[in-house]
Amino acid sequence: MLLLHRAVVSALRQACRSLSSRFRPPPSRLCIQACSTNESFQPQRPSLNFSGDNSSTRGWRIMGALLGFGTALAYHDHRCRASQESPPLYTKEEVYSHRSPETGIWVTLGCEVFDVTEFVELHPGGPSKLMLAAGGPLEPFWALYAIHNQPHVYELLAQYKIGELKPEDSAPPTLETSDPYAHDPMRHPALKVNSQRPFNAEPPPELLTENYITPNPIFFTRNHLPVPNLDPDTYRLHIVGPPGGQSLSLSLCDLYMFPKHEVTVTLQCAGNRRSEMTQVKEVRGLEWRTGAISTARWAGARLCDVLAQAGHQLSEKEAHVCFEGLDSDPTGTAYGASIPLARAMDPEAEVLLAYEMNGQPLPRDHGFPVRVVVPGVVGARHVKWLGRVSVEPEESYSHWQRRDYKGFSPSVDWDTVDFDSAPSIQELPIQSAITEPRDGETIESGEVIVKGYAWSGGGRAVIRVDVSLDGGLTWHAADLDAEKQPPRKAWAWRLWQLQASVPAGQKELNIVCKAVDDSYNVQPDTVAPIWNLRGVLSNAWHRVHVHVTS
Ligand code: MTE
Repeated sequence: MLLLHRAVVSALRQACRSLSSRFRPPPSRLCIQACSTNESFQPQRPSLNFSGDNSSTRGWRIMGALLGFGTALAYHDHRCRASQESPPLYTKEEVYSHRSPETGIWVTLGCEVFDVTEFVELHPGGPSKLMLAAGGPLEPFWALYAIHNQPHVYELLAQYKIGELKPEDSAPPTLETSDPYAHDPMRHPALKVNSQRPFNAEPPPELLTENYITPNPIFFTRNHLPVPNLDPDTYRLHIVGPPGGQSLSLSLCDLYMFPKHEVTVTLQCAGNRRSEMTQVKEVRGLEWRTGAISTARWAGARLCDVLAQAGHQLSEKEAHVCFEGLDSDPTGTAYGASIPLARAMDPEAEVLLAYEMNGQPLPRDHGFPVRVVVPGVVGARHVKWLGRVSVEPEESYSHWQRRDYKGFSPSVDWDTVDFDSAPSIQELPIQSAITEPRDGETIESGEVIVKGYAWSGGGRAVIRVDVSLDGGLTWHAADLDAEKQPPRKAWAWRLWQLQASVPAGQKELNIVCKAVDDSYNVQPDTVAPIWNLRGVLSNAWHRVHVHVTS
């Protein structure tokens, strides 16, 4: 056992050494302490973008695998060493004075002090993210970017340990002070949770198409950050005016004074059905199944009316309306996104500053008190907890506009991706999915009822849904619900159903669906040709395999 222990620990050290010369800590630093794990952490944060130094990212993964394997033994190794050494002690002020490459970059975790100067450039999330924590505790950042809560991350950090905080300075941040999610709202137990912090969840398929309008408590939720707790009485929406014009600071009551506009809109996350892409090849992101899509009746002021009030006009030059949320990370960086000004100013596009969802004030998870609703456009642009609107010559500089929610060829990987080379996703492609029966379910012979949804971006109407029971050899046209939608403004999904007899003696069915929109756009038949490293725009034929009892 001892030999195995030594072999693993020596392999871990070998991996550290071979990563890069800068990555090599002096042997005395290999004093690893098992830090207490905050149980509230969750091991996923999709949009923490590991697009920095790619070679180090690869190294990180190799390291991770090796270190993960040896973690338990390495912890033991550390404890033995820790008990033999008495580490240097530092004050918080001393740590705080190390915030630059010149002074060295120090951080703390619990009572331990780390000199991460050499690691900053290797940080998989990019040097700037790690620099946010320079001179202080990592806890507030790790609580937000919960992907850090993995043994190999602790192990990696442990190599940079230089000492401990003096006892009078070492009270660790408590869960209450360090957990930015502590005040998130209660959620419905039916939701299938993909990540708790930040909260991301989808309704189960059988509930999703139970109603044309998705009930608020089970509407899918996609949060990148903690939910802000906003006071409707003091809430102000800042609308930046044009040069020489007037800016507006609108209270909720001010917003109610604009003509109230209502529209039924389906909102779909770009990552809906990502889990099917993962089956082809690993992608980075939450494993959404078919439920990152929902439909609501939204009400609010039209964005074009509010922009006009501030003096904005449609411009000849390219311009974009940038939105900023009031949810932010520890540096104060807010969620943001933008849409072209032409869409925002078009009354027919029906872009809303919504304050109602299905006749109720917006729930906190869905943007209380005000969010943007952009009919026909990817969910990422429907900015929640809206704080600021401005018209700019360029798209939003937000990470989520420029470094995420873009599509790439299957041949592009994290070593070659150039986010500037692709446009941000706006209108989504044609989509459909089967919600009943469930994959792997056993059904009775005789008849089968197949149910699902279909939707297309840009107001394109779904004109047909084809369903096959034999993997795509033969097809039946499904019955579409009768909801009327104006031409070019089909902002909401069609629910569909097919009742078909199961051929006698059939032991299993390979059920497939595909939809067609009024531009005759169709879904691709397989996932591989549309695979992309972020797992967005997953809209291949949806397939469900069921067993039949006789
Ligand atoms: N707005 C803010 N302020 N913060 C966010 O994290 N997520 C976006 C968008 N607006 C987000 C946001 C994404 S990616 C999607 S898909 C939709 O909100 C999800 O909206 P929902 O949670 O109401 O379903």
